[in-house]
Amino acid sequence: MKQLMTARQLKLAVLASGRGSNFDAIGQAIERKDLNARIVVLISDQSQAPALAKAAGRGIETLPISPRDYSGRDAYEECLVRELEARQVDLVVLAGYMRLVGKVFLQAYEHRVLNIHPALLPSFPGLHAQQQALDYGVKISGCTVHLVDEGMDSGPIILQKAVAVLDSDDEEALSQRILKEEHQIYWQALQLIAEGRVWIDGRRVVIKDN
Ligand code: GRF
Repeated sequence: MKQLMTARQLKLAVLASGRGSNFDAIGQAIERKDLNARIVVLISDQSQAPALAKAAGRGIETLPISPRDYSGRDAYEECLVRELEARQVDLVVLAGYMRLVGKVFLQAYEHRVLNIHPALLPSFPGLHAQQQALDYGVKISGCTVHLVDEGMDSGPIILQKAVAVLDSDDEEALSQRILKEEHQIYWQALQLIAEGRVWIDGRRVVIKDN
């Protein structure tokens, strides 16, 4: 079994493509001192992402990097890795980052990239996870914080939270209730890492008591 990271104040980079509410929730947890971390940069692949404005509002460095300015995914990710290494980040937090992460990125940051997904993985990976849950007719869905590997939402699971699916739900209503839980479990998973309590054993993530 391997310890993900020794206890420390985490230096985080957040990658976001859109709204940035998970980024905000992590920022708030840091301000409340529930999470021992610093967000050193917010990177977005979308120059108009609202997440960029949210980060600027928090006084956090913002870095729009458009994949279209690079010859391909490898070249784009080499640029990302250079920027992350220049800031010596411990962990990369994907928060609504709408791209698959490739091998250049993962080789540089193996077991150091986290994602949040609005379903109980391995159910309903990919886009529109909440609508997928409604269409399938499950009675319980939720959200998952996991380590990122080369697959689609397939890496080792750190934390999950269940959310009941109501008969009255539509995609919007279910998404809102799941989002509320996302805003809790993301910083909680990060804090477990900051406390040095997260260990990896193959696909299994084990949380140890301090
Ligand atoms: C969240 O539902 C997250 O689970 C998914 O993308 C959405 C991002 O929302 N990966 P926000 O940008 O954090 O508000």
